[in-house]
Amino acid sequence: MPYPYVLLSAAVSLDGCLDDTGPDRLLLSGPADFDRVDEVRASVDAILIGAGTLRADNPRLLVNAPERRAAREADGRPSYPLKVTVTATGDLDPNANFWHTGGRKAVYTTDEGAVRATRALGDTAEVTALGPALDWRALLAHLHDTHGVRSLMVEGGGTVHTQLLQQQLADELQLVVAPLLVGDPAAPRLFGPGAYQSGRLRLVESRRIEDVVLMRYLPTAPGTGTEPAPADRHWLALACELAADCPPSRTAFSVGAVVVGADGTELARGHSREGGDPVVHAEEAALAKLDPADPRLPTATVYSSLEPCARRASRPAPCAELIRGSGVRRVVTAWREPDTFVPSADGTGLLERAGVQVLHLPAYEHRAKAPNAHLLG
Ligand SMILES: NC(=O)c1ccc[n+]([C@@H]2O[C@H](COP(=O)([O-])OP(=O)(O)OC[C@H]3O[C@@H](n4cnc5c(N)ncnc54)[C@H](OP(=O)(O)O)[C@@H]3O)[C@@H](O)[C@H]2O)c1
Ligand SMILES: [Zn+2]
Repeated sequence: MPYPYVLLSAAVSLDGCLDDTGPDRLLLSGPADFDRVDEVRASVDAILIGAGTLRADNPRLLVNAPERRAAREADGRPSYPLKVTVTATGDLDPNANFWHTGGRKAVYTTDEGAVRATRALGDTAEVTALGPALDWRALLAHLHDTHGVRSLMVEGGGTVHTQLLQQQLADELQLVVAPLLVGDPAAPRLFGPGAYQSGRLRLVESRRIEDVVLMRYLPTAPGTGTEPAPADRHWLALACELAADCPPSRTAFSVGAVVVGADGTELARGHSREGGDPVVHAEEAALAKLDPADPRLPTATVYSSLEPCARRASRPAPCAELIRGSGVRRVVTAWREPDTFVPSADGTGLLERAGVQVLHLPAYEHRAKAPNAHLLG
């Protein structure tokens, strides 16, 4: 099911607090960082906060710079991103700034919360009940399908950030660290306790902004089973990039592959015709770099831009067979093999019959095909 790109954004003190416990909101960053946040807001389709932040901070969540709103309008987008909040209780103050500024508003809640929220808000916001409990995947799918949201900025608070990261729904984290300490054990913290599968995050940028530091992270730990995790998109995109490194051929596809451990460590990568071997396949090249007894293999994921092959003339074992033999139980791929060289190849079927879970992410198919355009007519 397609979801928007989910970007978590927060500012914290050196001791990891989002705020203190005083009546006013603690200012963690300065004008230059507020302007950066304004720019990020201007780039997204929707902004989400939890009802706790709505009650505590009474925020407006606007794009403040007129030139940024004008640029959105010039692109045919609404001046302001859709504003979204989540609540279980439906306890929302109809006089809050959130409802009386900016563009459209949406509330996601439970069946019970919907009764109360609708009573409070009337037609100020679209209220959607998601059943007896709020399901984040249903919320993201609804934003994507019904509101056309392709990018979602989440501006807290900690309860919301924690759930999205723990449920492997965050594609990116933008964290600002401010040079001050709160010290109050009752102050809200960015991430609460619980199970995180995100692994060791990948730092993609760090930037000084006045006296705060912005850090941008991507999660890298693969998902489990056939449910895609944000990191699956990251690693599959990398496999598609590797396909572009293949020496060109008129008789074989260009394919890239990455083997990733359960903790998000890259174990090996490969691409077709690597190292001067004219017939080596990407998955084969990657697996050959690992000790067959490597204990990380049974919980690893193989990412391959093209579905692993089921038959080949050039070697005794096709890649689907090599993967099965390696002990890997999960494969993520972008593109089903067309009939170009092998009629009705079904590497997916071969893997699935051997108990390997195969996940296709067709959103990446065009990237997997790009270095093969000359073979596809
Ligand atoms: N520094 C920063 O960047 C930053 C950013 C944002 C917020 N903050 C601070 O964070 C604090 C608020 O954080 P918080 O953790 O209390 O609030 P929050 O995450 O904004 O909101 C929590 C509320 O959201 C609703 N909610 C969350 N998950 C839900 C789910 N799965 N199903 C249904 N409803 C759900 C519930 O609302 P109901 O109670 O209505 O059911 C819950 O009480 C404030 O002090 C604020 O200043 C700081
Ligand atoms: Zn192959």
